[in-house]
Parts: sequence; structure tokens; C-alpha cells
Amino acid sequence: MCGIIGYIGNDNAADVLIEGLKRLEYRGYDSAGIAVLQHGRIEIRRSVGKLLHLEDALKKELLSGTVGIGHTRWATHGKPSEQNAHPHRSGNVVIVHNGIIENYLAHKRRLETAGYRFQSETDTEVIAHLLALHMEEGHSLEQAFRATVRELHGSYAIAGLCVSEPETLVVTKSGCPLVVGQGDKAAFLASDVTPLLAHTRHVTFLEDGDIGTLTPLGVTVTGVDGHPVHRDEVRIDWNAEAAEKGGYPHFMLKEIHEQPQAILDTLRGRYSYDSGEADLPDLAITPDQLRDARSIWIVACGTSWHAGMVGKYLLEELVHKPVQVDIGSEFRYRNPMVQEGDVFIALSQSGETADTLAAAREARRLGAYVLSIVNVVGSTLARESDGVIYTRCGPEISVASTKAFTGQVMALYLLALHVGRVRQVLSVEDGQWWLDQFMALPGHVERVIKREAEFVAMAHRFYEKKNFLYLGRGINYPIALEGALKLKEISYIHAEGYAAGEMKHGPIALIDEDMPVVVLAPRDRLYEKTVSNLMEVKARSAPVIAFVSESEQELEALADCVFRIPNTHALLSPIPFTAALQLLAYHIATLRNIDVDRPRNLAKSVTVE
Ligand code: F6R
Repeated sequence: MCGIIGYIGNDNAADVLIEGLKRLEYRGYDSAGIAVLQHGRIEIRRSVGKLLHLEDALKKELLSGTVGIGHTRWATHGKPSEQNAHPHRSGNVVIVHNGIIENYLAHKRRLETAGYRFQSETDTEVIAHLLALHMEEGHSLEQAFRATVRELHGSYAIAGLCVSEPETLVVTKSGCPLVVGQGDKAAFLASDVTPLLAHTRHVTFLEDGDIGTLTPLGVTVTGVDGHPVHRDEVRIDWNAEAAEKGGYPHFMLKEIHEQPQAILDTLRGRYSYDSGEADLPDLAITPDQLRDARSIWIVACGTSWHAGMVGKYLLEELVHKPVQVDIGSEFRYRNPMVQEGDVFIALSQSGETADTLAAAREARRLGAYVLSIVNVVGSTLARESDGVIYTRCGPEISVASTKAFTGQVMALYLLALHVGRVRQVLSVEDGQWWLDQFMALPGHVERVIKREAEFVAMAHRFYEKKNFLYLGRGINYPIALEGALKLKEISYIHAEGYAAGEMKHGPIALIDEDMPVVVLAPRDRLYEKTVSNLMEVKARSAPVIAFVSESEQELEALADCVFRIPNTHALLSPIPFTAALQLLAYHIATLRNIDVDRPRNLAKSVTVE
């Protein structure tokens, strides 16, 4: 989730771009850069780390042009480095990009054969070379840009400029946000409205496939085929802080809503439908090594550990391999029977959690192959792992993890498919069937979060309770744990997650009319058993909040609240169920007036033991 920006007008472009990038820094902050047209040349300044470093670089070498583009990066392809930072240039054109180009490898090979030299490890650089190639064919910037856009698959927001047409900026988008606006003899573009608010309150949100052409006199929008397109101008009344949160009251809610996109991005370009396989090039483990591994270990902390538990159910069911799951702080202090050649998977949003890092180092010392599933590119865990799958969720700012969790589970699905195909437990047709199910997941989550009003109503009924119990079975047992963790960390209500069948071995003693019980009861092979657990709860007068499959009819009479989750295969139900529990926790916490983005005593990344 990078941030892009562009300016064309009469003021100093570098100043406008830097001020704008400050507003976008929350979208990514591992490197930043700007390109400005100055005296008939493109001048680029880039630096790694916070924007401050770029500002320092600019103080040393001032830029004076009035047209430019800028970028703040959250790495997806290629580590955070100056070479990988945007803007990317090819001859006399330069571009910035937010998103993922799925077919970049095919373009890269073709462009290399045509003599283009690549300077970075990014997928973005192909866009710059394609644009240069089409301009060399004699096209105008706008025509060349259209031709380039037609050749791209994936998600993107792109802005470009060239030396030969200094009065024009071009932009487009597909699957990533982009907004344009007009000021006094100036035009602006950005990933969201925050940088534009200092210049104008009237903005236009571009839609997928739109091509925007910006000049100091304004913005015109056309389709990729060149036909004019009308987009309404919108007046924005948000202040800067509200705008950064996209109008949501909290980052947590914004991140919950970003999940369909985060899941899609984690999946994007990582499979081959024809062969029914997952394509995970950074795994760096051979099919033989995967086949021969005696067992798989998964280690993580907190919410990431819950994703790891989902991974256990998934891998054992789909791949038929023994999987052991452990908490980072436990694994490192026991005597784990890891053997040479075992596969060790570390899960972490930040890639900096001390206990997870220490566990991964210990596993490597014992001879395991270390694979990590990480959100922050270039983090310590990613650097120290033999192979990595990045969850492409963008920065997670709220302390309580939401989109990183569903991204991790999505990455585990891809990994399970990969191992299943390598071990030939899954056929080509099985693989294709699973890929179809994976692709439906963003839509399922979308449908859950669209029904937010139902969670608000539930929250009103229960927010004053002091204790909650969450029950789940099978692959939804970890989701019961995750639901309880979300509730306790942001609402300060005591909540416990339990395997539903374990309730009668102790916690049932706690149940009374004052203890809401959240039951996860999808229509799977454990359904009947979960319903009998629910009856036990009901017999003790507890209010029941049941999360059930869409087709469910029976529980209406038993539960006090019923929320229907889109029907999925049981193994895939954790993702939509989790989205529902996140929203329940969020609305309970806000009714209790808690600062949900910064709950007391917690840190986003626990880098100490
Ligand atoms: C809970 C939460 C924490 C983290 C845990 C591990 O909402 O965010 O439990 O999941 O601290 O952090 P990472 O995933 O960065 O290793």
C-alpha cells in the first residue's frame, strides 16, 4: 500500500510533493522519492527510510521545477533500498506506481531482449520501460500511456510524466485508489484526498480504467479507449486526520474494511490456474525438500499464532503432514524435537517480534528450513528466513491486528495448495477447485462488512457485559480464540476462547444469564456437535450470539442473535468468520469509549522478550 502524488502548476513542485507525501506517509514508509522536471531534464531524488531523509537530500540539492510526481513506498517486490524506491525512469519518462503488476516477469523478459536495462528488483520498472518503448514508437505521452495500460495485469495506480511534454501529467488506476483535483492554475493527483486538502476541497475519485490527463488548466478524464468519461466532483469536508483514515473514525475500522483488497493482493499473481498450482517464487525450497520434510512447525505470537493454528488444521487436512504449532515464547525455552530438514514456518505481521525471531533462529540452528509469512518487507524475520511469503496487506497502524491476520491465513492457503500439489495429494482439478474458492473469499468478506449495522445492534445489546465466552470447533477453534483476543484487547472486557467440546470440562461452571456466549457454528461436519454445545449453554440461560452459515435455519429459535456468514467450504470459513468477530469487538469497544487504535498497555510490535 504505497502512496503516490503528482503536481503540475506554477509553484515549486518539490515543496508541494514533499508536503503531500508527509500526509501519505501512513500508507508506507520504507523509502520515498520524487521526480521533478527541471530545465528540460528529469531530476530524481530518492532515499531509504522516513521522509525526513528525502527532505535532507533535497536540502543539499534544491529542485526548482513546477511539475513532478512522488511516492512513499511500502515494499512488495524487492527490498526497501534506494534502487527499488520510486520514481522509476526509462530514458525521458518517469513513473510512480502503487499496486502489483502480475505479468511483470513476461514484460521484463521481453523488454530485456529489446535492450532495456533494469536497475531495480521492482515490478514497477516494467511500466516505465513500456511507456518509453511506446513513446519511441512515435506516440504522444497520452497515447503511449494508454498502450502501456492495456498491457498491464494486476492492481495499480500509476502517474507518469515525460521531458517532451512538460505541460502534462498522466494517471490511471485499477484496483488501487486515486483522486485528482484542480487548484488555481494547478492540478493535483494523489492516492487519497489528504495531500489535496491544503489546495482544494473539490476532488474527483477516478474509477478503474480511467485515464486522467492533468495540465495547469485542469483535469480531463477518458477511458482507456480515449472516449471522454464524466466523473462527478465531490466536496470533501474531512479534516486532515479524518482524511488519513479515509473518513473512518479509527484505523482499525479502516483496516477491517481493507481486508477484501488485502486478501486479493496476497493472492494476486501467485497461482497458475491452468496447472492448479500456487506460484510462490520466494519460497526457495525445492519440491524434494518439501516432500522429504518429516514435519512442519509453525511458530508465532498473539493473533499471528491464531493464524498459525488455522494453518495446522489446513495443512493436516489438505496435505496430510503432521504440523506442530507453538507460541514463540514457549518454543524457545523447551526442547523442541526439530530435525534436520523439517520445515519451520514463522508468522509475523511486523517481522520484528522478539520471541518469534528467537524461535526461528533456534529452528535454523537445529537444521530446519525456515520459511516466514510476513507483512513488512525487509523486516528482520524476512531477512533471516530461507524463504518468505509476503502478505500484501499494507501498513497496519491500529495496534489490534486485523487485515494482517486474514492476509496470513490467505498466505497459508496458498502454501497448503503448493505443498498439496508438490506431494501430489491434490490433483490439477483439485487445485483449480481450491483456487476458485480462494478467489471468492474477498467477496465473502465484503458481504460481511457491508452488514455493519447488525454488529452495531449486537454491540448495543452486550457492551456492558463483564465477561464473554467464545466457542468454536475444528478450524474455527482458533477463530474463537482470535475473537476473544480482539474483544479483550480493545474493549477491556474479559473474554475467553474455548474449543466448544472442552466447555464441559470446566468453563461451563462460569455460565449464567450474564455471560454472553459467542458460538461459531458453520455447516460443517462438526455442526451437530457444536449445536449440542450450544444447547448446554442455553440450558444455563446464557445469551447466545450465533455465527452460522447463510443457509442455516435451525438456530434461529435457540440463539438470541444470529449472524449469517456466506457459505464457504469449512476450511475457508475462518476468514469471513474473523471479519465478523472483528466488527463485533470493534463496535463493543467504541460504545465503551475506548481508544481502539491505541489500547492501554499494548505496543504494535513487541521487540522485547
Ligand atoms: C493482537 C496483536 C498481537 C500480535 C502479536 C504478534 O491484535 O496484534 O497479538 O499479533 O504481538 O505480532 P507480529 O504478528 O507482528 O509478530
